[in-house]
Amino acid sequence: MASGSRKRLIIGNWKTYIEAPEDAKRFAQTLRRKAATFSGVQVVLAPSFPLLPLLTLALKGSSLQVGAQDLSAHPGGAHTGEVPGALLKALGVSFVIVGHSERRAAGERDQEVHEKFTRALDEGIRPVLCIGEKERDASGDHFEYLGTQLSSALAGIAKADAGKFVIAYEPVWAIGKTASGAMKPTELRETAIFIRKSVANRIGRDAALRVPILYGGSVEPSNAATLIQEGNVSGFLVGHASADANSFLQILQSVR
Ligand code: PGA
Repeated sequence: MASGSRKRLIIGNWKTYIEAPEDAKRFAQTLRRKAATFSGVQVVLAPSFPLLPLLTLALKGSSLQVGAQDLSAHPGGAHTGEVPGALLKALGVSFVIVGHSERRAAGERDQEVHEKFTRALDEGIRPVLCIGEKERDASGDHFEYLGTQLSSALAGIAKADAGKFVIAYEPVWAIGKTASGAMKPTELRETAIFIRKSVANRIGRDAALRVPILYGGSVEPSNAATLIQEGNVSGFLVGHASADANSFLQILQSVR
């Protein structure tokens, strides 16, 4: 099955790499200034929570959008330290990463990922559902692992939800390396087909084609073009290389 939407979607997951408000602001201004060099690519920046208001303001009126790295599974109430989706929505956030492997490693379970996914949909924010195996082996057990993550998170979705969420396939073993540690494009292609088929089994083939499937795991300027062309994905969830304006710009320009 071919890749979904032809429009490229690149999300920069800043994690906690960018901490200073002035660095975030300067980054946003650089990207705005160079926007013509990556026109046609949909770009989202996902900073730490406290940087969200600053970033939405700095990007206002541009084609760039803002994402959050997580949200509360609850609609509000007595949940100290949590950030509800309604607040994110009010701040101008349009995407939210859900079930990132670093959150799962910190104890987040499939059920909570599902609740966050559903909560984001309910709030009108596009969830970016992260899935990915910890390791691969020749027997292909990783496909079963991915299938379980998908069916748990996507339980209850309908055809009408197709354009409202994103799947980011991030094999855990490929995260945080350099370009040579990323997944091979041929393996990525095969996995992207598996993911799309799994989604199609739930909401039908036509609807599944409207779900962008991203790849994440050591995407850098040197491997971005090959991964997107040969890997059969709609774009990337970029970690460390998204925290440097020059690297991120090169990635955006190379996938145009
Ligand atoms: P990385 O991170 O690009 O630094 O490998 C990707 C991610 O964790 O989203």
